[in-house]
Amino acid sequence: MAAVEGRDAAAADSGGVQPKYDAEFTDNVIAATGPNAHPRLKQIMPSLLRHLHDFAREVDLTVAEWMVGVDLINESGRMSDDKRNETAMLSDVLGLESLVDEITSKLLISARSGGDGSGRPQVTPSTVLGPFYRVDAPILPNGSSIITAPQDSAWYQKAAPMLAYVSGRVTSAQSGRPVAGASLDVWLAGPNGLYEQQDPDVPDMNLRGRFRTDEAGRYALRCLRPTAYPIPEDGPAGRLLTLLDRQPYRPAHIHFIVEAPGHHSLTTQYFDADDPHISDDTVFAVKKELLVRFQERTGDKDARWSAMCDFVLSEG
Ligand SMILES: [Fe+2]
Repeated sequence: MAAVEGRDAAAADSGGVQPKYDAEFTDNVIAATGPNAHPRLKQIMPSLLRHLHDFAREVDLTVAEWMVGVDLINESGRMSDDKRNETAMLSDVLGLESLVDEITSKLLISARSGGDGSGRPQVTPSTVLGPFYRVDAPILPNGSSIITAPQDSAWYQKAAPMLAYVSGRVTSAQSGRPVAGASLDVWLAGPNGLYEQQDPDVPDMNLRGRFRTDEAGRYALRCLRPTAYPIPEDGPAGRLLTLLDRQPYRPAHIHFIVEAPGHHSLTTQYFDADDPHISDDTVFAVKKELLVRFQERTGDKDARWSAMCDFVLSEG
């Protein structure tokens, strides 16, 4: 009752103008939550409902427009499977995955992990997982290649100028010491901008591999200098970009998941600092600490480029 009186008072303050839509509707929906609701949902649903309903009221959302949104989510779901996550991509182009990644990393990273005047390195920032990750990439020895496409294939001929040697160290933010036995799960798109599951012309798991750091925390692998790619245009995410008159490209990057016992796992990407799309990533995932410059490599017939990608993990 007090809330209703409050609204009446507010209406009086605004010159007696009645709300355009049912002023009690959202409160009634929130009040429908039962006493045995899941605790986290009980905490967050009032906020979600208020924002969602306020959005609909603010833009005067029609039934026809709401149904376009329902169809879009349904289509995203139908396109998604273990090889493609269209719903995640839709979320990515809206900036939501980058935002929740920032929120999650700020919740997880300990205040001890750097920036405290101790001179210790900052934890490597996380960034989005993206929709093209696959579990169970092959486990490979350090120094080996994640390219499985045959050398006489057209794909490999296109890739040859981009052959690269990528190496680095995994260290602890707290101690600065190397992290031995850390696992690095690595994946990237090919020179045609396609991940292997998008490309029928390359073998399964091409450009994917898992590596383990040695006693000095070091790893090394052979792959490609990455290529910028547009997100696929054959689904709701791509169509939405077109309707918004937005460019679809992601700057060239290599994905990593770095995990080690006793440390927070890290999902991140290293971006080619010389890529022209660095400043307009269509999923808003670039962070300046994650830029890496590829150097020309000499004396190595299997790599024209090299890059150092180091990772600092937070203990915990
Ligand atoms: Fe990617």
